[in-house]
Amino acid sequence: MTVATAHSNIALVKYWGKRDTALNLPGAGSLSMALAALTTRTEVRRAPARESDHVVLDGSPASGAASQRVSRFLDLIRVAAGSDDAAEVVTTNDFPTAAGLASSASGFAALALAAVDAYGLDLSPDELSVLARRGSGSAARSIPGGWALMHAGEASDGRDAFARQIAPAEHWDLRCVVLITATGAKDVGSTAGMNRTMMSSPYYPAWIETVDVDLADAEPAVMARDFELLATVAERSCLRMHASAIAADPGVLYWNGQTVELIHRVRSARASGIPVFFTIDAGPHVKVFCEPSAVPAVRDMAADEVKDVIVSAPGGPARIEDA
Ligand code: PMV
Repeated sequence: MTVATAHSNIALVKYWGKRDTALNLPGAGSLSMALAALTTRTEVRRAPARESDHVVLDGSPASGAASQRVSRFLDLIRVAAGSDDAAEVVTTNDFPTAAGLASSASGFAALALAAVDAYGLDLSPDELSVLARRGSGSAARSIPGGWALMHAGEASDGRDAFARQIAPAEHWDLRCVVLITATGAKDVGSTAGMNRTMMSSPYYPAWIETVDVDLADAEPAVMARDFELLATVAERSCLRMHASAIAADPGVLYWNGQTVELIHRVRSARASGIPVFFTIDAGPHVKVFCEPSAVPAVRDMAADEVKDVIVSAPGGPARIEDA
C-alpha cells in the first residue's frame, strides 16, 4: 500500500479554458499558492483479486460518477505500467468537502503520486504534474506545491504542460483566508463552466490574451514579495476570468450576494491601508490573501457574511507518507 498527501492550491493568475479537452490541456498558463490547511490523504493498494476498483471518499463508498473518474485516471497509470490490476483507493480530505471547496486539485495530485508508486512507475516531478493534470488542471500545480507556475505548453501530447515551483512555501509567509459563503455543491462544475465559456462567450479569446501579461507581472511580484503588485494582478485576473464566464450564453455566474459584498469590503479595507486582496474560483467563496497580522481584521470584516472561515499558510509539495 502507498500513502500520499497533497495540498489544495489557489490560483492568483487563473486557469479558465482548455486547448484540448481530451488531454485536459490548458488554454493558457496559471500561477498559484498551495494551501497547507487543505490537505488530501490518499491510500492506494493494488487488488488483483478484485474485478473493479473500489473507491472510498471521506469514509463512504464514492458515487458512481466520482468512482468512474478515479478509475479512468487509474487506467492511464495501468496502461503505462502494463498492469490490469484493480485498486483499492481510500481518500480523505481534512476540510469540509460539502462546502463546495475545490478538492480535485489536492485529490488528483495525491492519487497520482500514490498510484504511480503502487503500480511501480518511476516518473519525474514534471511527468507527475503532467499526469495529475489529466485528472484536473489545477492538480498539476499541487504536485510541486509552494508558489507554482503552470505552463500552457505547446506540444499536442501535453508533455510540456506541467507546473513547477517558482518558490517554496517558506519564501513568502502570506495567509489565504477562505471565506465560505454557502454550503452544498456548486451548480456548474469548473469543466462545464469552462466549456460553456469557450463555446459561447465572446470574451473568451480576449480573456486568454490577457493571461501572459498577468503571468509576466505576477511571477516577479511573487519573487520580490511585492504585495501591491500581486494584489493588482490577482484581482484583475480573477475579475477577467469571471467576466468571460458571465458573458457566456447562458451566463455562468458563480457569485452570490455575500461574494459581492465581500469584494467591496476587501477593496475598502485595502483603500484604508490594510494589505488584503481577494480571488474567487468556480464557486461563491471568497479567498482573501493578507499578511499574517491582518488575519483578525479579515475575520472581523467578514464575520456577519460567512458560514465558515479557513485560514491557511502556504503549503509544500505532494509527497509520499509512511504507510
Ligand atoms: O482544476 P479544475 O479543472 O477544477 O479548474 C480550476 C479552475 C479555477 O479554480 C476556477 C481556476 C484555477 O486556476 O484553479
